[in-house]
Amino acid sequence: MYVLAVNGSPRKNGNTAALLAKALEGAASQGAHTEIIHLYDLNFKGCTSCFACKLIGGESYGKCAYRDDLTDVLAKIEKADAVIFGSPIYFSEITGEMRSLLERLIFQYLVYDENYSSLNLHKKPVALFFTMNVPENMLKVIEYDRLVHKYKIMFEKHMGPTETLLATDTYQFIDYSKYVSTAFNEAAKAKVRQEEFPKVCQKALEMGISFGSKPTE
Ligand SMILES: Cc1cc2nc3c(=O)[nH]c(=O)nc-3n(C[C@H](O)[C@H](O)[C@H](O)COP(=O)(O)O)c2cc1C
Repeated sequence: MYVLAVNGSPRKNGNTAALLAKALEGAASQGAHTEIIHLYDLNFKGCTSCFACKLIGGESYGKCAYRDDLTDVLAKIEKADAVIFGSPIYFSEITGEMRSLLERLIFQYLVYDENYSSLNLHKKPVALFFTMNVPENMLKVIEYDRLVHKYKIMFEKHMGPTETLLATDTYQFIDYSKYVSTAFNEAAKAKVRQEEFPKVCQKALEMGISFGSKPTE
């Protein structure tokens, strides 16, 4: 088993990275080979709309033809037996870097036919981790539930069976007293950090264990 995690946060020690590390710890405990890729270490663009992946008879049909640091990442995702994508929410979306990866990853598989069918015949288990400032009771109100659902549908169609995991009301600064942050109740956030975040980490660990112990096709 090769379980790959992709970190769409610029922070290598932030909330998203912590969840991804837990999932990989779980996968490794089952004997899986694991790897984490930090997207912000890489130089790459989103889809450049070259359409080489859709050219009839073209040598890159169904494959992203653009060459940059993401080329190797796409190859690793293809090779992996399971992939975990993690991203913070920035302005009610996944980060720009993660979005750029998805443009290149998903568009190569998407066929412009009547069903917008998928060229990816090697489906694999996927997990999507989202971390965010908003508290859990606001998810529906600000329609983040729809955002998560949108990505789940997209991944189910083009990548494989997709699970999702959310960490809400995350702790953003090491020391809140040093930053203008009156929008937040630091004490309440610290409580979530202490009591709720470990539970989400535990779920990430369990998802990793499940991924690491799945038989390869
Ligand atoms: C530029 C920026 C925009 C953000 N926008 C949102 C947002 O729209 N909604 C939200 O819930 N959190 C937002 N956040 C908070 C992050 O999603 C949250 O702190 C996340 O857990 C950070 O993940 P990390 O620790 O892995 O970097 C934003 C943070 C930054 C830096």
